[in-house]
Amino acid sequence: MIVQRLELRNFRNYRELGCDFDPQINVITGRNAQGKTNLLEAVYYLAGARSFRTRSDRDILHMAETEGAVTGFIASEVREQRIDIYLSRRERKKIFVGGVRMKSASELAGRFACTLFCPDDLELIKGGAAERRRFMDLAISQLRPKYADLLTNFNRIYEQKTRILRDYRDRQDMLDVLDEFSLNLAKYGSELMRYRASWCARAAQAAGDIHGEISGCGEKLRLDYRTVSAIEDPLEMSVREILDALLRQQERLRQAEIDAGQCLAGVQKDDIAIRIDGSEASKYASQGQIRTAALSMKLAEWTICRDELGSSPVLLLDDVLSELDAARQDYVLNSIQGGQVLITCCDEEEVSRRTGGSILRIEGGRVRN
Ligand SMILES: Nc1ncnc2c1ncn2[C@@H]1O[C@H](COP(=O)(O)OP(=O)(O)OP(=O)(O)O)[C@@H](O)[C@H]1O
Ligand SMILES: [Mg+2]
Repeated sequence: MIVQRLELRNFRNYRELGCDFDPQINVITGRNAQGKTNLLEAVYYLAGARSFRTRSDRDILHMAETEGAVTGFIASEVREQRIDIYLSRRERKKIFVGGVRMKSASELAGRFACTLFCPDDLELIKGGAAERRRFMDLAISQLRPKYADLLTNFNRIYEQKTRILRDYRDRQDMLDVLDEFSLNLAKYGSELMRYRASWCARAAQAAGDIHGEISGCGEKLRLDYRTVSAIEDPLEMSVREILDALLRQQERLRQAEIDAGQCLAGVQKDDIAIRIDGSEASKYASQGQIRTAALSMKLAEWTICRDELGSSPVLLLDDVLSELDAARQDYVLNSIQGGQVLITCCDEEEVSRRTGGSILRIEGGRVRN
């Protein structure tokens, strides 16, 4: 899958842009604050009408303008299509695929896929469990629409149960429905757990291989899915068995939850334990190791997505090379061959000499040729 051409009007610091991409490697260079990340953000925006830097579409419109547009010409093995997203400060954004108006952004799913690595992804290693759950959830949702539905249902019931446990002291009758919520939470939880466990097993394998290669086989990255203590290995159990175990656990914790006024155990606390050469990465890893591990996890997501979709998502790499030594940089640049890549960097000579990709020089929101 590739993006052949991007057109922008009043997107971030781009007033008017028409830009054709190479089907393989595109090196996006320029000094700081010229618009390199903004260009990746625009391509990413085509995949789901969402930015990775802000929740608000107001921020991505040129600050002096009231309306703008992002257009992408996408080609996959089976078709070529045009995606247009119109932005306005006055009304909701409008999305068109092949000229046909979409009802919502979720209809964009599956039309264009990309995997992004950006400096914030270092939080995958350094940040809390919520970062890693979000990573798993987004990755699995991209592949399995059913997972996204399960997650929405789980979160809704989790919030309701939390509210019951928080507020029952004022309204004792609220406790009448507590067990029903616990049952539903365990039902959705057991299904989520199976998906997460099997995705993590695949990601662990792929990320371990990639990390070993980037670091020159010197280091071992290990990822382990961490879930409720009542369950040893979800991959050895059926969904039914997981459900029974979760229900028994909720039964045991019932009074403790009521006393504590909050949900105690459950997949809402799931995590991925990350170790490099046996040591916990968040505590002991160096800057370069953190970057290598985070990148390996992202490339694992890309690999799994490619194997499932039968076509490589476009890989967007923002500022990936800093903090890596020359050997690690070389491996990254070699390993990303095989699909379309947009990679930003400040030092064009270094990267283009080693990848041979085509170069886009960005200056003040324009591509300079
Ligand atoms: N809504 C907006 N309207 C106009 N300009 C904007 C808007 N949002 C961001 N910018 C400008 O875009 C520029 C930053 O672009 P970007 O983040 O793409 O830089 P970059 O080339 O990736 O730089 P670096 O090398 O530092 O990462 C800044 O000068 C910023 O002021
Ligand atoms: Mg940038």
